[in-house]
Amino acid sequence: MQVLETIAEMRAACARARVGAYRLGLVPTMGALHEGHLSLVRKAKEECGLVAGTIFVNPLQFGPGEDFDRYPRQRERDLALLEAAGVELVFTPGIAEMYPTGAVTTIEVGGLSERLDGASRPGHFRGVATVVAKLLNIVRPDRVYFGQKDAVQVAVLRRMVLDLNIEVELRTGATIRDADGLALSSRNVYLSPEERAQALALPRALDAMQQAIAGGMRERGAVLQVGLEVLRREPEVKLEYLEAVDWGTLEAVGRVEAGTLVAVAAKVGKTRLIDNFLAK
Ligand code: PAJ
Repeated sequence: MQVLETIAEMRAACARARVGAYRLGLVPTMGALHEGHLSLVRKAKEECGLVAGTIFVNPLQFGPGEDFDRYPRQRERDLALLEAAGVELVFTPGIAEMYPTGAVTTIEVGGLSERLDGASRPGHFRGVATVVAKLLNIVRPDRVYFGQKDAVQVAVLRRMVLDLNIEVELRTGATIRDADGLALSSRNVYLSPEERAQALALPRALDAMQQAIAGGMRERGAVLQVGLEVLRREPEVKLEYLEAVDWGTLEAVGRVEAGTLVAVAAKVGKTRLIDNFLAK
């Protein structure tokens, strides 16, 4: 496995790797890797043969007062995990390499960037879209992989790829959960044992809504009410949003249909958690 820290080296290594029969798959991450990330690497490996990973805690997507400084960083462990998962190329640039002159040119995915997490975290998706566009331009993969766990991020990036005619196929991997149902996240390490128990209200609320939908409930307000009732029983969970939206536009739907995205964001203590499902 090659580990590259400069754009010039990464570009050259990717160009060399692309020659030949393999496809090149890209898995962008901010590190602190867990099974969610590694499942994307494995999917990329299966589908492409050659995999590039990136580890970069992107300052542009963190707002003032967010956890940029304390975001978990564990480079050596992450590199060992990527190597074991069969990654060929890893890009671990520093901030000055990615933003040598700041970031004057940024990407705003009109409307979508401001909905759901974009409303709770102004500027967040501008940072995400900008860094992903840069990584795609550096690596030039055939396919790029993102997790369903961040379904709003997927919607924003899909639209960016479409609107800017970026030559890449965007693929998603299923949300990986711990045995207790909590979606894996690099931020779960912030949770105290009490907070972790409280956080389980999120997957419980989603399960309750999924069951209600399976039982024939389709009206948006009624479905969300089922989730809200579960969340209300855990007062330490501070809800940011619970919404049922069209996964393409991120606009609220009137009725929950197959493919509707039902997504939740909440704070437990200081930790912000998100989760979602696609209705059947
Ligand atoms: P990060 O939070 O490190 O996540 C990297 C990728 O792993 C994302 O595509 C995310 O959706 C996926 N992922 C995280 N938890 C997952 C889980 N439990 N199951 C499945 N996939 C999961 O998302 C980012 O980084 C950044 O915004 C990034 C795209 C790298 C841009 O900076």
